[in-house]
Parts: sequence; structure tokens; C-alpha cells
Amino acid sequence: MTQIEITRLGHHGDGIAVGPIFAAKTLPGEIVEGDITGDRIVSPSIVTPSPDRVKPPCVHFKACGGCALQHASDDFVANWKSDVVRTALSHQGIDVPISSVFTSPNQSRRRATFAGRRTKKGVLVGLHGRASGTLVPVPNCVLMTQKIMNGLPAFEDLVQIGGSRRVEMAITVTDSDAGLDVSVVDGKELDMELRSDLAGVVRKYGIIRLSWNGDEVVQETRPFLSFGRARLVPPPGAFLQATRHGEQSLIALMKEAVSGAERVVDLFSGCGTFALPMAEFAEVHAVEGEKAMLNSLSEAWKTASGLKPVTVATRDLFRQPLLPDELNKFDAAIIDPPRAGALAQTGELAKSKLQSIGFVSCNPVTFGRDAKTLVEAGFAIDWLHVVDQFRWSPHVEIAAKFSRT
Ligand SMILES: C[S@@+](CC[C@H](N)C(=O)[O-])C[C@H]1O[C@@H](n2cnc3c(N)ncnc32)[C@H](O)[C@@H]1O
Repeated sequence: MTQIEITRLGHHGDGIAVGPIFAAKTLPGEIVEGDITGDRIVSPSIVTPSPDRVKPPCVHFKACGGCALQHASDDFVANWKSDVVRTALSHQGIDVPISSVFTSPNQSRRRATFAGRRTKKGVLVGLHGRASGTLVPVPNCVLMTQKIMNGLPAFEDLVQIGGSRRVEMAITVTDSDAGLDVSVVDGKELDMELRSDLAGVVRKYGIIRLSWNGDEVVQETRPFLSFGRARLVPPPGAFLQATRHGEQSLIALMKEAVSGAERVVDLFSGCGTFALPMAEFAEVHAVEGEKAMLNSLSEAWKTASGLKPVTVATRDLFRQPLLPDELNKFDAAIIDPPRAGALAQTGELAKSKLQSIGFVSCNPVTFGRDAKTLVEAGFAIDWLHVVDQFRWSPHVEIAAKFSRT
């Protein structure tokens, strides 16, 4: 048995002592002990707990890998996420205060991917254990919406009739305003019999749409999400913000970032999380790599009344970013790239004459890199907030406003 003192948390939320030695579910300042295997104490016991340590709210926390930080107080998690952002920015020579942290409440995660497979005894549906392939059933998960949790028996039936013991199925579920929208990948090959059995499950549990290995099998009602006056019917499995709370926080912040603009360009627009609400007061041009998402966005705009014009363009913004001549047609931009960031597009934003940019990012490191490009081109960061819709996970989201100085 070795005793170590945890000095900091790593990017995955694990405690780290000098060495480095890693110990999951520990906190800075804690003395922990256990056997060291490689660079890790696999089952640390807490000798001296941190004052920030709390009783995990979820009974599955010990086994489930979905959450990493339930043993820490809310204040600790908010401060740690803020520090992750501050550190990423300071590596780029940027020092900016973090205005606030918007944390989504319990039971608000409206989108999740479960894994499922058949077993000798029946079926297993759940989330993966921490850094392991073990499937952990999570019937009392405190993160997901109640409607998603109510769907667990339906997902088990889907695995029972369309899963196998060798391959794990991925079951992505969205709690849409009309009901559960389910998309399965790696299920058995579809044939007439399976189609009919799946339709039976859909009817029994009131799932409103089921897609199977990319094919739409049943659509009882069109799943939709409301964005102000618009109703969006997203393509199966499309990107959506993880919680309604997080989405609404980001929309409010982006509205503030582009306020006063009459023409807004929405880069990496997805299905229009920002484009549709911004069209309440500005003309919007939405650019995105996935055509299906833009089709949904256009459809939502067409069927809503009273919105300003919205145009869309499918474009790979890594290879073909919008150039300054194209960007200069707008008063403001919103940009919300994937984790890789927007190296090429921020380079062009830096060269443009745009005065205001609302920036959303799910990766502090690439955000720091891209922010530096904008700051070096004469932009300042007016404000920056942390939006925590992946509560108790190490994920951090940022919303910031850049203006020309
Ligand atoms: C973080 S999501 C944001 C989507 C949207 N702003 C929202 O809030 O719902 C990033 C989006 O970038 C798109 N994307 C990823 N790589 C891209 C690329 N190279 N060019 C254009 N869009 C891309 C994805 O399809 C996804 O919709």
C-alpha cells in the first residue's frame, strides 16, 4: 500500500499526484492509498477527504463511466471547469475573466447513446464502465430526462429482437418535444420480419420514430424541437445541444453577441440551433457540412411564420472556409465548430471586416488556439461564460463574444 497526495485533476477528471500517479474519483488535497499498478492506483481508499468531497447523487456512480465528478461539490466542479478554460487561454497568452457558469440541472440530458447487447440470460442495455467495455445498467441515472429513462424497457426489447451477443448496438435517443426519437446503429440486418417486430415495439412503447442502421423503419409522428416560432424536425441522430437548459443559455448568449446585427452568418450551423432564433430579428446565412441538417433547417424556416430570410449552404469549412469577401456581407458571425475547432475559418474571420463574433466551443484547447488568431487580428474578448450541459463529466463548453477594438 502506498499513500499519495492528490495535487490536481487531469483532463479526464482523475486525481493526479506527483509522478504522475493517477487515481480516479479523488480530489486535490486528498491523501489516498492503494497499490500502484503502472501509473495508477486502481482502487484508491480515501485517507483524508477534501472538504469539497460530497456523497455522489447517483447510485450508479461507482460502476458507470458516464460521470467522472459526482464525488465533488457543485462549486468545485464549476471552479475546476473554469480553471480548465483559464489555463487553455493562458497558454495562448490570453487572460480574460469568466463571467459565470451555467450548469444544467439533474434529469435534463435530453440526448443519450446507450449500448446494448444480448447475453446468455437475456439482454443488457446501459452505459460503459469507466475505461472498460463493461456494460452497466443505469435504471436510476440522475442525468437523463425521465422520458428517456422511461424508454429503457423499449430499448431492451429492441436489443432482444434486433441485437446479437457478438456486436454491441448503439441506441441514440433524443427526447424530442413530440416523444422519443430513436436511432440504432449496428443492429441485425433489416428484413421483413425484423421490420414488423420493430414496428411492434414502436407501437407498444410510443416511440415516435425509429431508424435502424441508417434506414427509417417507422415514423408514427414527426419528432420536432421548438426554436421560438420554428419547429425543427431533425434528421435521425443529428447533432443537438445536450440539454434544453444548455441550448437556451447558448441561444441567449449568442443573441447578445450579435445584437443589433441585421445580417448574421452562422458557421457550423448544424440544424439551426442559432440560425432559427436569430432569424426572429436578423437575416441569417447558415453554413454547415451536413446537407441533411440544412434540409431540416430550411424546412423548419419555411413552415414558420414571421421569420426573416434564412439561406443555407453545404460547405466543408475546414477545407473551404468562407473568405473575407463573403464574410464582409454580414454584420456579425456565430461560429460553433466541432472539437477540432475552426483553424481555417478563424483565419479568414481574422482577415475580414466583421466587427462582432459569437463563439461557442466544446474544446477549450482549440478555442484557445482560435481565440489567439482573432486577438492577434485586433479582436478583444468582451465576455466569456462556461456552459456546463455535460454535468459531472470533464467536458467544458464556452460561449464568448469577440469585438474589434
Ligand atoms: C458543435 S456542432 C454545432 C451545431 C449547431 N451550431 C448547434 O448548436 O446545434 C458542430 C457542427 O459542425 C459540423 N461540421 C463538422 N465538421 C465540419 C466541416 N468540416 N465543415 C462544416 N461543418 C462541419 C457538424 O456537422 C455539426 O453540425
